[in-house]
Amino acid sequence: MKALVYHGPGRKSWDDVPDPSIQQPTDVIVRIDTTTICGTDLHILKGDVPAVTEGRILGHEGVGTIVETGSAVSSFEVGDRVIISCISACGSCSYCHQGLYAHCLAEEGASGIGWIFGHLIDGTQAELVRVPFADGTLHKVPEGVSDDAAVMLSDILPTGFEIGVRYGQVKPGDVVAVVGAGPVGLASMMTAGLYGASRVIALDLDPNRLDQALGFGATDAVNSGDADWLEQVMAMTDGYGVDVAIEAVGIPDTFTACTKMVRPGGHVANVGVHGAPVELALQDLWISDVAISMGLVSTSTTPMLLKLVAQHKLEAEKFATHHFSMDQFLEAYETFAAAADTKALKVVIRR
Ligand SMILES: NC(=O)c1ccc[n+]([C@@H]2O[C@H](COP(=O)([O-])OP(=O)(O)OC[C@H]3O[C@@H](n4cnc5c(N)ncnc54)[C@H](O)[C@@H]3O)[C@@H](O)[C@H]2O)c1
Ligand SMILES: [Zn+2]
Ligand SMILES: [Zn+2]
Repeated sequence: MKALVYHGPGRKSWDDVPDPSIQQPTDVIVRIDTTTICGTDLHILKGDVPAVTEGRILGHEGVGTIVETGSAVSSFEVGDRVIISCISACGSCSYCHQGLYAHCLAEEGASGIGWIFGHLIDGTQAELVRVPFADGTLHKVPEGVSDDAAVMLSDILPTGFEIGVRYGQVKPGDVVAVVGAGPVGLASMMTAGLYGASRVIALDLDPNRLDQALGFGATDAVNSGDADWLEQVMAMTDGYGVDVAIEAVGIPDTFTACTKMVRPGGHVANVGVHGAPVELALQDLWISDVAISMGLVSTSTTPMLLKLVAQHKLEAEKFATHHFSMDQFLEAYETFAAAADTKALKVVIRR
């Protein structure tokens, strides 16, 4: 088969590789119909994720059709059209029992880390993929849900919702600010409405992304490069700050911005993946009763989000801005990496 293979920092190619095969009775093999590229794949290609070794097939998002099942798979059969979650869940360890699949203790990949596709085992940017723990990792795609919509449930929609909106404890009437209007931040904006946020303020440096945010549930947009960005945000609240500030970039500046605009008693929900230490002004924050949360997505809310997508309550397909065929994989990467020019949100690659 063909697959997108990582060959060390800065090097990738669309290669001929051996087909995957069933290794455990709980595995299935999925033929990928639709996949996409995540910002995390760009981090890997820069060499920021050293656990990814040369020869690894990238990708942790995908929709496909089951072509083979292991003997212990009970919920799926050959021919089922499925969403592959970015998190693999054995379903029986103590973390899986809590719904914290992000920390699944099974030995596949590494015990304690649920994100293994395109990281510790071969991923979804391929014609075929081996899916471990199929019963806990896959979701059947209901009729009427397009691949473009379904593939957004592998990662970005559950991430924006679980780590941004749920951990941020958004409540009816809240003013919510989201820093970073990339696919993940936009997913938080789109799902903040589920809990009745009264205002959703998008912050980004890129005016294109701010324009796009207004189509994803943001009611207001503030360019965080403006000298008076904080005054602009405060003017959209009762003067005390936002109820929930969601960080969806992953750098110290944007985390600090969240701690500056949150109100006493409010929540800062960090979604971004950080590569450098962040200074926390605990001397100012302690008296404000601010709660700070963070985490790796568990994809435990995917079934609920999928119902909303199936009922057209969440327009997941809007994230799909560019389409490619698999033999154009390298072009898809170029388009995604140049998002500031191409205005790409999610690039969708089909077989
Ligand atoms: N916690 C999790 O489980 C999880 C899962 C997936 C992704 N992530 C992380 O979420 C973050 C967002 O992902 P994405 O795919 O949307 O990323 P992205 O790179 O596509 O988007 C980031 C956005 O932030 C904006 N930005 C950059 N610097 C900024 C600044 N100083 N101020 C304001 N805006 C700024 C960019 O213009 C861009 O629109 C990343 O750090 C990613 O690794 C976390
Ligand atoms: Zn991802
Ligand atoms: Zn588990």
